[in-house]
Amino acid sequence: MAEATIWSVGGYAPPYIVTNDMLTTRMDTSDEWIRTRTGIRERRTAGPDETTATVSATAAQAALDAYGFNADDLDWVVVCTDTPEMWSPATACFVQEAIGARRASAIDLTGGCAGFLQTLQLLSPLAASGKRMLVIGTELLTHALNWRDRATAVLFGDGSGAFLLGSSDDADGIRIGPGLSRSDGSQADILGKPYGGTRYRITPELVQQGEMHTIRMEGPKVFKHAVTLMSEIGKTLLSQAALTAEQIDWVVPHQANQRIIDAVAHQVGFRMDQVFSHVAHYANTGSASIGLALADMLEQKLIAPGQKLLSVAFGAGFSWASQLFVVNRIPASRFLHAGEILGDAWGWDT
Ligand code: UT7
Repeated sequence: MAEATIWSVGGYAPPYIVTNDMLTTRMDTSDEWIRTRTGIRERRTAGPDETTATVSATAAQAALDAYGFNADDLDWVVVCTDTPEMWSPATACFVQEAIGARRASAIDLTGGCAGFLQTLQLLSPLAASGKRMLVIGTELLTHALNWRDRATAVLFGDGSGAFLLGSSDDADGIRIGPGLSRSDGSQADILGKPYGGTRYRITPELVQQGEMHTIRMEGPKVFKHAVTLMSEIGKTLLSQAALTAEQIDWVVPHQANQRIIDAVAHQVGFRMDQVFSHVAHYANTGSASIGLALADMLEQKLIAPGQKLLSVAFGAGFSWASQLFVVNRIPASRFLHAGEILGDAWGWDT
């Protein structure tokens, strides 16, 4: 039976680098605090002319170019994001136009930091059935931060990761194996970007406070739930697939905080040399995190045929997910990450 397969991977980390030291000129924080509490050293921010759609299109085009795939042959373009181009229409429509996927249907999905894995699980049956699709996880989270909230503002970055998906009948790459995902809407208030929707409308007062479109988070509660629920869903998937931690070659966790990654690895029973992390350089890129990690791993040639990968993710909702991947053949990939510009590209007065 045909299975959903990742034919190629594209990654894009925008070129502006903001180091922890640079943040200290804007808020009461320190490189030492950020590094020891999160493992983060720097993050990327999009340039002044970049938006969620352009950043998504760059990663999407990287995946298409890596494979040599004609955008005209795409059936679906799906963007997974919590920081969309605009409220309506879907960011994916702008991406579809930019890459010239003239026959494709385009739609967005929103699921927080677990959204990319949830999206893969939702779309895998379509890919297995022969639909060819681009699934792009993108966030411009630095555009949604309250720079007066030091506990949150230091954690996030911008980026995009794109998978070209199809059926294992047509070409080979990384098979999308079994996955699990869950949500608990009773925790919706703990982490999110509440304003601007229909519940909390933007008012002149909110605009004046500069908080109408920023992320709010109860960090310690998120930390605790992230560790418990990612460990639990990772263990459950391993047990359902009759695999032990030892049989997994790489853990590709959502890149939020090195302490969370370490704690999950410890609780599930992984050695740290099984775990991929680049949170030090890219920080938390939400829906982009897993795609960006895979693009980086492929560029570093860490992945080999026959390997089994386990991803776990947790984020707003709360939603959390785990996903197994099996490398049949190394997929084509392109990771664009030239960080040439030290500094931020846009105003900080949000
Ligand atoms: O994808 C899911 C998205 N979210 C996450 O993954 C985040 C999950 N949470 C976390 O990663 C951690 O909770 C944080 C990194 C956000 C915070 O770390 P913590 O060890 O839980 O610190 P805390 O919130 O308990 O704060 C400890 C102290 C406080 O000072 P006092 O009250 O002890 O004097 C904070 O005010 O650290 C202070 N603090 C800071 N100090 C310097 C908070 N943020 C900062 C900062 N710089 N940026």
